[in-house]
Amino acid sequence: MIVSTKVLLEEAKKGGYAVGAFNTVNLETTKAILEAAGELSSPVVVQMTEKTFDYAGGRIIFQLVRDMAEFYFPKLPVAIHLDHGKSFEIVERAIELGFPSVMYDGSRKTYNDNFRTTKKVAELAKTKGVSVQGELGNVPYLSEVRGDIDWNEYMTDPEQAARFVEETGIDTLAVAIGNAHGFTKEREEPDYDRLARIADLVSVPLVLHGASDWEDGRAKKVIELGISCFNVDTATKLAFIGTLSRLLEEGEKTDIRDVLGEAREAVKESVMRKIRLFGSEGKA
Ligand code: 13P
Repeated sequence: MIVSTKVLLEEAKKGGYAVGAFNTVNLETTKAILEAAGELSSPVVVQMTEKTFDYAGGRIIFQLVRDMAEFYFPKLPVAIHLDHGKSFEIVERAIELGFPSVMYDGSRKTYNDNFRTTKKVAELAKTKGVSVQGELGNVPYLSEVRGDIDWNEYMTDPEQAARFVEETGIDTLAVAIGNAHGFTKEREEPDYDRLARIADLVSVPLVLHGASDWEDGRAKKVIELGISCFNVDTATKLAFIGTLSRLLEEGEKTDIRDVLGEAREAVKESVMRKIRLFGSEGKA
């Protein structure tokens, strides 16, 4: 059952757990994510980026996720989401394709540019019943975190975030509290006080990107403080690629379906671990 991300995350916020938003790139990762969520009766967000549109075809990958969810898991609440839409045009395209949920990521732009385009996206989305995620502050990428980093330049400002959400009309907000994309050097400790303040001031559900290497203590603590959704990409990629490399090195399996099938199982296990960690098992 395809559902709205806004509703999924509002339920998670009320229930004190988080939902996983897992990036997919192909048939194998899609099936792994849906099977993991189905087996654990967990609501789930399946998401993809513009790069995956280029790789698989936007319409094809969208229809693959939707058809697979509706055919195999008709009762499971599944949201389909455009992750990190970097322009108004790509968001518009996703909405035209039927995405029930999109992110406009203007976090690398000036505040005013981010604000203006996020608001424009939210206005368009409202007319189509689509949920919108915005980002304020920014979550750095691997390439940006090699040397010394001044985390203050990246952090979400709580008061500014409250105004941003109120005035743009977005449904969920991605925040920066010392998290970074990829398995990479992050702030020694997330800024928990900042998160608590953001959660206090911002009414909509909060999303954490770049935390797929956060395990028990850290993940549980930020959920308690108000995170309702974790974006997960690197953990899944590593499970897939790690299994493929091992199998190719062993050289015993030659049937493509056997090789990709085992990589898919590894992704499924990784997604199941995350679902248990986020506390969304049994919430479908
Ligand atoms: P990771 O790369 O840390 O898994 O973060 C993924 C993400 O934030 C996708 O939007």
